[in-house]
Amino acid sequence: MSHYPSARFSVAPMLDWTDRHCRYFHRLLSRHAQLYTEMVTTGAILHGKGDYLAFSQQEHPLVLQLGGSDPVALARCATLAEQRGYDEINLNVGCPSDRVQNGMFGACLMAEPRRVADSVAAMKAAVAIPVTVKTRIGIDEQDSYAFLCTLVDGLVDAGVDALVVHARKAWLKGLSPKENREIPPLDYERVYRLKRDYPGLTIAVNGGIKTLDEATRHLAQLDGVMLGREAYQNPYLLAQVDARLFGDEREVPSRHQVVRNLLPYIEQELSRGTYLGSITRHTLGIFQGLPGARAWRRHLSENAHKAGAGIEVVEAAMAKVPESVPEAELDCS
Ligand SMILES: Cc1cc2nc3c(=O)[nH]c(=O)nc-3n(C[C@H](O)[C@H](O)[C@H](O)COP(=O)(O)O)c2cc1C
Repeated sequence: MSHYPSARFSVAPMLDWTDRHCRYFHRLLSRHAQLYTEMVTTGAILHGKGDYLAFSQQEHPLVLQLGGSDPVALARCATLAEQRGYDEINLNVGCPSDRVQNGMFGACLMAEPRRVADSVAAMKAAVAIPVTVKTRIGIDEQDSYAFLCTLVDGLVDAGVDALVVHARKAWLKGLSPKENREIPPLDYERVYRLKRDYPGLTIAVNGGIKTLDEATRHLAQLDGVMLGREAYQNPYLLAQVDARLFGDEREVPSRHQVVRNLLPYIEQELSRGTYLGSITRHTLGIFQGLPGARAWRRHLSENAHKAGAGIEVVEAAMAKVPESVPEAELDCS
């Protein structure tokens, strides 16, 4: 359905979660899933001290999610990202946290469709890679379908390449970001309707999707699905994505093999001064549902943060999970 196939399945941008170690780990599980950075603000990129655009080449296809609302700054950041090799830029028009609202970006931008359109137009003029937007279906009392369409009309005119829609609205006052991911009800039908009304626009749905069966059902109506919390907490789900959603039937590594495949990366990172726990914290859910999964998590949680902790900690943790259960007998979809 889409001219833009990598959007078919993506792992959502998640602050503090989808850092570069997490993405490297996820890439060991799926070759095709599109991976997102955490949201990075234009201020951090343009004025911060660190390198907020660092990633490893293995992470492609990789999307940089930007937070910002100044078209000039966004275009500058998009250019820097393109030069660094990112495959796509995504603008955050969905995050409801107070901190983000003060900076005038995130979900509150839904109330400023002109500014969002100008931002996309400025980025499109600056780069050749796709420029996409992640948004909600509404904010506060502004939750009519017409309100959403006003935003989308501006984006289409600005040349947006795809839209990811978190299928619930956000309450900008009164709910925490966490509550805003749970309390406003999901309305997938509204996203399907959007696709029917904008058939030429690539549209992916996000929010509350927990299995690849559900993902497949959405893909009958839409171009893409984006999974956040489930992909992070139950990462072995990603191991089935290539076969089930991209028709790539290459052999799927076992969970133990995935961890073993991560070891060279861990060693390389440790030698650069990265703490073991900064990498292993993303892997805690890999054995979910298996005997020994809790012992794996506990061993890592108790030992990975210790000074000098190395891959022997990971190997000892892995030894607590018996390797004999054939993967075919496990339902991890
Ligand atoms: C810890 C965490 C951090 C998040 N950070 C971002 C972010 O930086 N940018 C963004 O657009 N959404 C962010 N989100 C929202 C997710 O991208 C996604 O829209 C939301 O979790 C709903 O999808 P899910 O039900 O599959 O988790 C975050 C979600 C979580 C759980």
